[in-house]
Amino acid sequence: MTESFTTNDFGIPVGSDQHSLTIGPNGPILLQDHYLIEKLAHFNRERVPERVVHAKGGGAFGTLTITNDVSKYTRAAVFQPGTQTEMLARFSTVAGEQGSPDTWRDPRGFALKFYTTEGNLDIVGNNTPVFFIRDAIQFPDFIHSQKRKTGSGLRDHNMQWDFWTQVPASAHQVTYLMGDRGIPRSWREQNGYGSHTFQWINAEGERYWVKYHFHSNQKQEFIEANGHEGFSADEANEMAGIDADYHRRDLYEAIEAGNYPSWDVKVQIMPYAEAADYHINPFDVTKIWPHSDYPLIDVGRFELNRNPEDFFSEIEQAAFAPSNLVPGTGLSPDKMLMGRIFAYADIHRYRIGANYAQLPVNRPKNAAKHSYSMHGSMSYENYPKDQAEYAPNSYGGPHADPQRTTEDNLVDVEGAVMRSVETLRPDDGDFNQAGELVRNVLDDAARDRMVGNISGHLLNGVREPVLSRAFQYWKNVDAELGGRIENVVRGAQSDEHTSDTLNAPS
Ligand code: HEM
Repeated sequence: MTESFTTNDFGIPVGSDQHSLTIGPNGPILLQDHYLIEKLAHFNRERVPERVVHAKGGGAFGTLTITNDVSKYTRAAVFQPGTQTEMLARFSTVAGEQGSPDTWRDPRGFALKFYTTEGNLDIVGNNTPVFFIRDAIQFPDFIHSQKRKTGSGLRDHNMQWDFWTQVPASAHQVTYLMGDRGIPRSWREQNGYGSHTFQWINAEGERYWVKYHFHSNQKQEFIEANGHEGFSADEANEMAGIDADYHRRDLYEAIEAGNYPSWDVKVQIMPYAEAADYHINPFDVTKIWPHSDYPLIDVGRFELNRNPEDFFSEIEQAAFAPSNLVPGTGLSPDKMLMGRIFAYADIHRYRIGANYAQLPVNRPKNAAKHSYSMHGSMSYENYPKDQAEYAPNSYGGPHADPQRTTEDNLVDVEGAVMRSVETLRPDDGDFNQAGELVRNVLDDAARDRMVGNISGHLLNGVREPVLSRAFQYWKNVDAELGGRIENVVRGAQSDEHTSDTLNAPS
């Protein structure tokens, strides 16, 4: 590296990195030391607010390669055979703050940004295919129940179970959370899901419903090394003390060592018309579509192969939004997704600033931007001097793409305006798929670990009447599982044996 002088933020060389300007060797500091002032004042402004959820995370850049032909379902350039697209992934926990341990039990965020030739496509999902609630209006309440109590500033299992047991829609996701996926051993090990139903539109304008799946190519190797997916609660608690940044470190070090993790990209496709009388509401994010109904279709693979150079600029300031949908992709009438369409761009304007889209990590890297947004705080992209500032205009300014108007049309709907639970279809029950997960997907050993995880969690500060409701909740999921959990918890209580890790989140 060539020798260079320290400069201030305007490129002007400075006299010292270590000594302020004073009167005499120990004298008072002078106001004219504008370099000292610049250093202290900038330091005071080094943070932006942390994300209100998913604050603790890490990420890396990579490449998506499309290996299969899915062009009959979508016209999106990013999904055409052979296409390679630069991308960013960010993985995170949900409830913990910036410095919180990576190994607390929580779903993991699985956020992807693809810098496509038609603008940025974001798929902002989790490591589970479902979610706790099905209406965006419940999201702040749900998150408050997972965060800290106003008085003590402590997390509280009682309020978590108080919420879950009164919201049966949560059962499927809580079942995942209390299983091996609740504490991944590594971000490289975990699968990802778009979770919601989205729309794909082909070149003929035909519409399909689509669910995204990202299958880790490292998962099997982790299972072989450790017997099963994920950390046990004890291993995770121990690791939280040894290395709170364990997952962030693991991803960073693997990529530095050239051991690039990859995920296979797959989709489930439902023809548009089949949604109307499918036996489950296909837009309910608390449900999966059984693979027997809609098998996985291969799309391609992504690999993460480049660490950020500056974690703050490229990961902290990364702004993902489910509303970033490119031509050939669209929304579904999922009430959660609708709420998210508002929430993300809104928080980015607050958390980062009005011009967050101009930052290198967020701007379209491979598509031209011809927007009528201009100016505002920290704007640094010049508005083109020969482009009209308004639309419509008579001077050759950009005009909207009429083909996208059809893509904005979500779904054909009719009905009165109302606040309502959706009409239940035959298999819409809240506990059905959770029970199937317990009985048909887990094996005996995984069920045993689940009984241990749930009873340990309940013994960690959950009180009546919430406790009895929790037993019933699990009996509703699976009578045998619920009975076993009740026996373990009641047995431990009668032994006056309470957990010594009160309020430990795992
Ligand atoms: C982050 C809101 C549901 C996945 C966030 C953030 C907000 C938010 C405000 C912080 C964004 C930031 O500051 O950059 C909501 C609302 C939801 C909802 C209102 C429901 C109506 C979901 C669901 C999923 C999800 C269902 C997954 C299926 C994520 C992920 C992040 C995130 C992965 C972190 C993105 C990143 O890495 O920067 N959410 N969320 N959220 N959310 Fe949601």
